[in-house]
Amino acid sequence: MMKLPLFAALIYIGRAAAVLEEVFAWKELDFDWPNDEFKNDLVKSGEYVAGNNLPLGVDRWKDKLFVTVPRWKSGVAASLNYIPLNSTDKSPKLVPYPDWKANILPKKGETPEENHIVSTFRLKVDSCDRLWVMETGLADILGEPSQISPPAIVIFDLKTDKVIRRYNLKGTDIKGDDSFFANIVVDVTKDTCDKAFAYVPDLGGYGLVVYSFADNNSWRIKHNYFYFDPLHGDLTVGGVNFQWTDGVFGLALGPPNENGFRTVYFHALASTNEFSVNTQVLRNESLATDPHSYELFKLEGNKGENTQSTASVFDEKTNVLFLTQIQKDGVACWNPRRKLEPANVGIAVHHQENLIFTNDIAIDSDRNLWILSDKMPAFVYKGLDPLEINYRILKIGVDEAINGTRCVA
Ligand SMILES: *[C@@H]1O[C@H](CO)[C@@H](O)[C@H](O)[C@H]1NC(C)=O
Ligand SMILES: *[C@@H]1O[C@H](CO)[C@@H](O)[C@H](O)[C@H]1NC(C)=O
Ligand SMILES: *[C@@H]1O[C@H](CO)[C@@H](O)[C@H](O)[C@H]1NC(C)=O
Ligand SMILES: *[C@@H]1O[C@H](CO)[C@@H](O)[C@H](O)[C@H]1NC(C)=O
Repeated sequence: MMKLPLFAALIYIGRAAAVLEEVFAWKELDFDWPNDEFKNDLVKSGEYVAGNNLPLGVDRWKDKLFVTVPRWKSGVAASLNYIPLNSTDKSPKLVPYPDWKANILPKKGETPEENHIVSTFRLKVDSCDRLWVMETGLADILGEPSQISPPAIVIFDLKTDKVIRRYNLKGTDIKGDDSFFANIVVDVTKDTCDKAFAYVPDLGGYGLVVYSFADNNSWRIKHNYFYFDPLHGDLTVGGVNFQWTDGVFGLALGPPNENGFRTVYFHALASTNEFSVNTQVLRNESLATDPHSYELFKLEGNKGENTQSTASVFDEKTNVLFLTQIQKDGVACWNPRRKLEPANVGIAVHHQENLIFTNDIAIDSDRNLWILSDKMPAFVYKGLDPLEINYRILKIGVDEAINGTRCVA
């Protein structure tokens, strides 16, 4: 593959001074193979089919940019990966994390490696130098699905690259075959590392699982607001029309109050509404599972037509919520100091070609907004063109992204 020099491809996105930097771009994904023989064997056995590897989740820790590749189809080489940020390659190879061994699927009849990762969609780096991975355990989702291991929260120490905990969700956290755990957010500060909570939305079973790190225990919460809106499941992205029924998916945490509790903003993917609940409710199992708590969940408002969103993330400094906009090829913003209504939702970034299906976003510790776009509907419903750029990772400073929008306080 031709090596491109390291230069910032700057994309002008309409507003003066707002430029989006295209950091990486790929036609197809390739991996950092231990040697050619290893790769050739995987190609021969069908364990690596380049076109079936679609990047989906992104987050940054120091000089590592984590990128997930879920096992939608067979032939995914490794699901949990990173890119060294000093890479001089515009289309870098993905490096399996923590190593190849953890990412190789067991053969029929074999038990998986103790710390294996079968398939993950999203992950989060926390402020305690840990990586939280929502491992679905499910391979070949669109082909012949195979549940290799139970859905689990896997937590790595980023300083040692060792697993510090693997927690299998309980039977009562899972709603049969409907459950689909594709996201995870972590509620923690630098001073409360041992008291972290994780919130895991179930987009197929319309629930929310809460995990307490201190108690090493989890519980499942139900609410009508976790369901999809039947009037907003008809989507068109990058010229592909499809119908989805995905429930609660995007989840973002506001800043902590004096007691350490936060507002959690959430929405179903197939919906244009945004809801919220306080972590004081979620963290308290008896309160969260009590039907009388129904009204503790609030409707924040409606974002307007075509505002369906996969991921959301909150910037504490500016008090702004960012939301991917799959039907608008971009990322929107909203400042909760203003009422949530269409006029108060800003377009932070938009690009008709480079932002087709903004699948995930993350804000790193330098307050860069990272955006991963991947044309996923074309990948699922009609196939991607391997001669075109299909996947991109872009970034923009948070302050630049909201400059000139309704999101500035
Ligand atoms: C990037 O950093 C790693 C680890 O520090 C080093 O091994 C590698 O050679 C560096 N790569 C480049 C292209 O500078
Ligand atoms: C957490 O709970 C799981 C399942 O109940 C158990 O396998 C694991 O050993 C526990 N870990 C710790 C650190 O207590
Ligand atoms: C959980 O909520 C219940 C009901 O509001 C309350 O009585 C209890 O003190 C709470 N528990 C904790 C640990 O805050
Ligand atoms: C915001 O935009 C103005 C006008 O284009 C520009 O002067 C300013 O530097 C921008 N600020 C940031 C943080 O990008």
